[in-house]
Amino acid sequence: MRPIEIVKGIYDVGVNDWNISDFHGYSTPYGTSYNAFLIIDEKIALIDTVKSEFADDLLYNIAKVVDPKKIDLVVSNHTEMDHSGGLARIMHRIGEEKPLYCSKMGKKNLARHFRQNMNYQAVESGQEVNLGKRTLTFIETRMLHWPDSMFTYLKEDRLLFSSDGFGQHYAGYEKFDDQIGDAIMPHAKKYFANILLPYSPLILKLVDKVTDMGLAIDMICPDHGVIWRKDPSKIINAYVRWSGQEPRKKALVIYDTMWHSTEMMANAIAAGISAKGVDVRPMYLRKWHRSDIMTEVLDAKAIVVGSPTLNNGLFPTLADILTYMKGLKPKGKIGAAFGSYGWSGEAVKLLENELTSMNIDIIEPGLRVQYVPGSDALDACSEFGHKIGKAVAG
Ligand code: FEO
Repeated sequence: MRPIEIVKGIYDVGVNDWNISDFHGYSTPYGTSYNAFLIIDEKIALIDTVKSEFADDLLYNIAKVVDPKKIDLVVSNHTEMDHSGGLARIMHRIGEEKPLYCSKMGKKNLARHFRQNMNYQAVESGQEVNLGKRTLTFIETRMLHWPDSMFTYLKEDRLLFSSDGFGQHYAGYEKFDDQIGDAIMPHAKKYFANILLPYSPLILKLVDKVTDMGLAIDMICPDHGVIWRKDPSKIINAYVRWSGQEPRKKALVIYDTMWHSTEMMANAIAAGISAKGVDVRPMYLRKWHRSDIMTEVLDAKAIVVGSPTLNNGLFPTLADILTYMKGLKPKGKIGAAFGSYGWSGEAVKLLENELTSMNIDIIEPGLRVQYVPGSDALDACSEFGHKIGKAVAG
């Protein structure tokens, strides 16, 4: 299926990774793609590479367009190994003396990944490289999402090579947004929620910077998933909206259970929240993957968490999701904790500590039930849900 000529003389020579299902802890049931771009001009440029095990596929795709040895320069927009893993193999094949353009942090970080000498050319925002009829302009995007990250802009074709930005973990035969339509948006949202959320303030600044620079953008070419050509502003506007973290009237009841008692509480609490007109979903941690939960967290107002007490502590799946969620730094949430216990009952307090450490505003004291909840306890859960529902509904 590749190379794909995305505009005259510019090709996606990357690969689809159909079978990856876990991308460092993020579930990828649709696989992903590692996009890499070949620009044929008086000088021939390659923008980014692929994961190391696909380096030969990349070379094969390039060779269908041009002898890889004719590549004059390589750009590394980002050091993470899904885009740089193939770099050593590619540089060896095309000639290690060829210039490798990257940010200053990219030079440092690439040198810590690859021990061989490479002809690093560190660039700053605004710096240009002339290819003949076309010009590459580099835009540093530090901490979006690594210190080395940058975009490369091609002004003559009005293309933005955006590295991880605006990507989606999606492998498909569709290569452009207009070929898949709105079905791509949940993948883009999941990608944002699980990778870019902690950097939301920087994304808002970057969008302002790109607007101030007056860059005309006909196409956004990310390193994962489809290219945005029909309406690039659609994904830019979605990023602005997601970065703002404006919640909907929505609550999540995230829980695990040992003998169904915490589950009974979760269902009664969720029903109580729903009774106040709030969109709510119980999320059982052995059914829902942490990365799908984070996608739901993105626009939820209330995060309600439930855990049985196990060996004086939290149930391990709760520790997992809370650790993951804390790292992604969601903002502007309210929350509450609940759980069943047998004799000591520490879990609810521990959940509250975790919520507090994420600056989630606890709006109701934690609710505990010893062993199996009876009808009075379930009524209390329902009332607990009503209070949370009222707070969400405003
Ligand atoms: Fe797709 Fe940060 O790598």
